Amino acid sequence: RILILDFGSQYTQLIARRVRESGVYCEIYAWDAAEQAVRDFGAAGFILSGGPESMTVDNGPRVPEAVFEAGVPVLGICYGMQAMAGQLGGRVEASEHKEFGYAQVRARGHSNLLRDIEDHASPEGWGLLDVWMSHGDRVAELPEGFKRIASTDSSPIAGIGDDERGYYGVQFHPEVTHTPQGARILSRFVHEICGCPADWTPGNIVDDLVARVRQQVGEDKVLLGLSGGVDSSVVAALLHKAIGDQLTCVFVDNGLLRKNEADQVMATFARHMGVNVIRVDAEDRFLTALKGVDDPERKRKIIGNMFIEVFDEEAARLTDVDWLAQGTIYPDVIESAGSATGKAHVIKSHHNVGGLPEDMKLKLVEPLRELFKDEVRRIGLELGLPADMVYRHPFPGPGLGVRILGEVRKAYADLLREADAIFIEELRAHDLYDQVSQAFAVFLPVKSVGVTGDGRRYEYVIALRAVETIDFMTARWAHLPYEFLDHVSRRIINEIPGISRVAYDISGKPPATIEWE
Ligand code: XMP
Repeated sequence: RILILDFGSQYTQLIARRVRESGVYCEIYAWDAAEQAVRDFGAAGFILSGGPESMTVDNGPRVPEAVFEAGVPVLGICYGMQAMAGQLGGRVEASEHKEFGYAQVRARGHSNLLRDIEDHASPEGWGLLDVWMSHGDRVAELPEGFKRIASTDSSPIAGIGDDERGYYGVQFHPEVTHTPQGARILSRFVHEICGCPADWTPGNIVDDLVARVRQQVGEDKVLLGLSGGVDSSVVAALLHKAIGDQLTCVFVDNGLLRKNEADQVMATFARHMGVNVIRVDAEDRFLTALKGVDDPERKRKIIGNMFIEVFDEEAARLTDVDWLAQGTIYPDVIESAGSATGKAHVIKSHHNVGGLPEDMKLKLVEPLRELFKDEVRRIGLELGLPADMVYRHPFPGPGLGVRILGEVRKAYADLLREADAIFIEELRAHDLYDQVSQAFAVFLPVKSVGVTGDGRRYEYVIALRAVETIDFMTARWAHLPYEFLDHVSRRIINEIPGISRVAYDISGKPPATIEWE
């Protein structure tokens, strides 16, 4: 396994994802983690991330001594290369030429790291690599034992290597997709240079997690709030495999779920997989609590608090439960620390369904805590969950509560469910579902006039929303084909008597948000 030391780069998580994608387990520690913790990790190799600081100041972040004492290969990226070079006797200087963005690097084929890896051959016998650069400082003098393995016009030393010790540094970012050969370079480092086998596969991950859960909870009973979303579903399937009947899930139907959603969750988990699931039909309680409330933030709070109240009541009914399972995943862990390890500044607001029932005094089991979303999906498939469920678009905790503008009423929710189901069904039928990141219908409680065969109609409006995004922090509205939108609009108006008009939302994020409330 590989240990990544974080110097505060925005890309540290990406390094970890690339390493895991190549089949090698890795974790991220902060650069100032305790020397003993670094030793105890038992890394087969280290990767030093980039970072915003400068090596040319006295108190810039340093590489832990344990890294160089371990006698295993080290790859420094950007700041990581500068820190390594500076600490091993080279010289780093501030450069007048800051490089940012695309660059072409001349790479020497004579290093174990870059041999035969190139985007273009150059007439002088260099390999040319297209890369993503982002740095101000540069290495001015090589440390002892290193040779130059890459250069650009403004960074004569854009890559350094010591094949003997397996120490390498690159000024560019191999972890981003703008560096097309980056994944190969990282894979070369972890597999060939560090000698890690590609054994971080879905099957092995499941076996490993099952063993760890069994060891952690022993014969104890575990409670899980199942929402039907990807993370809690995978936790349910995993815990069921690990501890069978020791697991009880509580599934709260708040009346704000999508069409047939509650039945599908019950069919998949209770009937099909034999998981203990308690279904709580709490629609009336939620709708009563929401009566007359139209402020979005208040609605969110009411839904979140009611969820905790209902969940708590069910939990109290269960005797001798010791553990609460949660679908926390690695990005949640990283983001709640503020960054990969608290070293970078990340702006992200969190949407959560509320907190934990605090007085429950349950111990926490979070088996997905070290996994990225794509890994969670892959092990979901490995555990036999249907692909539809594993690749479903995200759905907010407050559900349709934030997709019915203003006051939530059952009649509105029923209309919205029908319209949403038509939209999603058609997206799937036209192979568009997986091409958008999130798609749904929104209910507008305003009336609009229409005509149909049998006369004038005066009914409600549905807005359709579909977005493309990587991180949900920014998004562009999906440019769905007009023919498709036309077809969906006709179906909704023809098949749902309470709807007389359909609009398509063409707002990006920013300035709009993805949800309407
Ligand atoms: P916005 O509307 O903020 O949404 O652009 C970004 C992503 O977050 C989801 N979202 C929520 N998820 N509770 C959640 O669990 C919420 O209150 C909530 N509000 C928005 C939204 O669906 C989108 O994927």
